[in-house]
This record gives sequence, structure tokens and C-alpha cells, in this order.
Amino acid sequence: MTRKATITIDGKTIEVPILKGSCGPDVLDIRNFYQETGMFCYDPGFTSTASCTSSITYINGDKGVLLYRGYPIEDLVEKCDFLEVAYLLLYGELPDIAQKESFEQSINHHTMVHEQLRSFFQGFRRDAHPMAIMVGVVGALSAFYHDSLDIYDPQQREIASHRLIAKMPTIAAMAYNYARGCPLPYPKNQLTYSQNFLNMMFAIPSEPYQINPVIARAMDIIFILHADHEQNASTSTVRLAGSSQANPFACIASGIAALWGPAHGGANEAVLSMLKQIGSVKNIPEYIERAKSKNDSFRLSGFGHRVYKNYDPRARIIRKACHDVLDQLKLSDPLLEIALELESIALKDPYFIEKKLYPNVDFYSGIMFKALEIPTSMFTVIFSVARTVGWIAQWNEMMADPAQKIGRPRQLYVGEKNRTFFKST
Ligand code: ACO
Repeated sequence: MTRKATITIDGKTIEVPILKGSCGPDVLDIRNFYQETGMFCYDPGFTSTASCTSSITYINGDKGVLLYRGYPIEDLVEKCDFLEVAYLLLYGELPDIAQKESFEQSINHHTMVHEQLRSFFQGFRRDAHPMAIMVGVVGALSAFYHDSLDIYDPQQREIASHRLIAKMPTIAAMAYNYARGCPLPYPKNQLTYSQNFLNMMFAIPSEPYQINPVIARAMDIIFILHADHEQNASTSTVRLAGSSQANPFACIASGIAALWGPAHGGANEAVLSMLKQIGSVKNIPEYIERAKSKNDSFRLSGFGHRVYKNYDPRARIIRKACHDVLDQLKLSDPLLEIALELESIALKDPYFIEKKLYPNVDFYSGIMFKALEIPTSMFTVIFSVARTVGWIAQWNEMMADPAQKIGRPRQLYVGEKNRTFFKST
């Protein structure tokens, strides 16, 4: 029997069904709330709103748990490669050997971009931020792949999904090479997803790139950790764009735009600048005080999360991977020393304890990228390559959901009312 909550407003009582998921908090079904009460619900930032049902990713923010299709992120990082995780997110199950092979073949088949799309790059300034290029070029895919634009045909949806997963590393590496004045790369399909991306980023015609397996594995871990994260700002943007029946390429371009912001995917760039700005372990207390001050806009980048009120499990994994990579590559990074000390001081500080502010995935990913010699401007781009899998899995789930409707929030209007028209002459 469905549990119900009763809400009394101005003497009128209504019953609101309580929905139960497989885990996580119960959810009030307020779909008929306006019809029954004439009122809207006010929730800026959607802190209490479940916008959809989903079976893809589950986060328990209080316990610091992250599951993709029910599997703990720690197990997936340890036992899978990125394309296996991509398959899992898209289809709901881990692939068997034959499924894995056929998925890899399909992704490999789509890694190249239309030759004419390459000329788009010449239209950008060389100093354009690669995320600006990503938004433009990924959106432009809609103008090239007309045979996968019918969003009501599951087969076309699948082809579009594979195309996006396959082409994102190519477009990302092209954006990077355009900026540094190098020829635009082509994929090599005998390589794995991560190897291929690294090769396209760093190989130049005159010098082959030696793929270091430590770096390729680290890149795979980064891709897995960033692949999905339930209804975050960029994923919700993709769903909202998709709810109007926009094509998948346009939807993913909108996700990239949302991801770019420093409060979301741009935070890892901000973390490195912050660590450089702090400069030395001895300056940390001053910056902690600034982060706590109401009169200072400075915040600790890479700290705090809307959902995690505990250590972000991805931060724990990447913190360890970062140590491993630095050890294996025999590198040391003074910024890691500052980051570790900053974390240790902040985690003991009552301000951060009370507000449950812990390091998030971005706190260590910037240092990891630096160890892999990835330029700062590419950090968020790499995030977008990985998150494309989550975005497209969520988009597919939404398209197949019979409860799906165009997203159309309402508002609490606080502007002028009924003014008498007056224009000075
Ligand atoms: N440094 C200092 N204080 C902070 C920080 C921080 N990094 N984050 C939150 N706070 C404080 C806020 O000032 C606020 O204090 P108040 O209650 O006294 O006003 C309180 O903690 C709650 O913060 P909100 O901003 O209301 O929390 P919200 O859930 O809206 O924001 C966010 C979460 C945007 C991630 C925030 O913590 C932040 O700006 N962090 C830094 C940027 C960052 O690392 N973003 C990456 C997020 S992860 C990702 O996208 C992959």
C-alpha cells in the first residue's frame, strides 16, 4: 500500500503519496500539488527536489558512498577499464567477453570525425579556451550525423550514444592541438580508449608518443571516476535540454557548457591556481581564515559538495592514485605537499567540521593531471570526455521513461504588478 503524507493548508487537507526507491530517502510525489492546492513548491538550487526516477547512479552523501548500477566505485576502479564501465552505465550490466568486444568495436568504428568538421577548428582563435571549442564543435555534430537524430528510434539513439563516446576524445585532443599550433590528430583504433586519447593529445607527426602504462591506467581511473554522478548541474542540464526533444548532440553540448563553471567541473583548475597562490605550507592558516571569513569571497576550491557531507569517495581514490603515480613516475610535487597539509588542517577546523566540508574529487584531480603533464586548460575538457558517458546514459534513460515530460519549472514572482503604462516623451 502506498504511504501518504497529509498536508494541511488553510484548513484544507490533501494527501501526498510517498514514493520509495531501492535506496535513499523517500520522495513526496507532488505532481498534483499545484492542481490540488493552487500553490507551487519553492526550492532554489533543487536541494530537496528529485527531478526524475533513475537506476543509473546512487550516492549516499552522508556515508560517502557512490554506486554505478549498484557496484561500488572502488570495485569498478580496481577491476574494470573505462569502456567496461561505460557499457555498464549505458546498458545496466557489466559486459561479458563477447559484449565487451562488440562494444569496443563499435566505439572504435566511430572514433573519427567527419573530415569537414575539422575545418571548424580554423574558425576559433588559437587562444580560445578548449571548453569553448568543445561546446561549439560537439553541438555542430548535429549538423553532420543526420542518420542518428531520430530520438524516437532506439537504434538511432544507440548509434548517437556510441558516436558521442567515441568522438569526444578525438575532439578534445583536436582542441588541444589546435591551441598549440600542431596538426589535428587522428585516432589509432588498435589502442585502448585512454591510450588513444593520450596518443592523440601528445603524438606529433615528427615524434611518436611512447605511451607509459602508468599514465594510461591513471587516465582510465580519472575517466571512470568522472563517468557519472546522478542529477548534478550538467546532467540535469542535459536532461532538461533533452526533455524538449532536442537532439543528443545538442543536449551533450549543453551539458559541456554547464560543466565549464568553476562551481562544477571547472573546480580542479581553480584548485591548482589556489594551491599555487597559497605557495607554501606556512601560508595555509592565512588562507583557511580567509575561506572562513564572511567578508572574503575566497573559498577553498575542491572543498565542499552539495551531496557529500562526508569524504567524497572519488577524492579518496584519486588521492591514493595520485601518490601511486608520483611514486611510479619518481616525481615529487610541492603542490601535493600543500594540498595534503591544507586538507589535514581544514579537516580539524571547527568551521569545516560543522559545515561538513570535505575534499571533493577536484581537490586531488588537478595534481594528478599535472603529474600526467596534462595542461590546466584541458582539465575540465577531460572531465567532459568522461562525463559524456553518464550524460548519454541519463539521456537514454529519460527518453525511454513513459513519465518523461518537458521540464518546465515555475517561479515565485516578486516583480512589479499591474503598472499603469507611462512613457516620458
Ligand atoms: N570553502 C569555504 N566555505 C565553504 C565552502 C568552501 N569550499 N563550500 C561551502 N562553504 C560554506 C558556505 O559559505 C556556506 O556557509 P554558510 O552556511 O555560513 O553560508 C556553507 O558552507 C554551505 O555552502 P553552500 O555554498 O550553501 O553549499 P552548496 O551545496 O550550495 O555548494 C559547492 C556546494 C558549490 C560545491 C560549494 O561547496 C563550493 O563552492 N565549493 C568550492 C567549489 C568546488 O570545489 N566545486 C566542485 C564541486 S564537485 C564537482 O562539481 C565535480
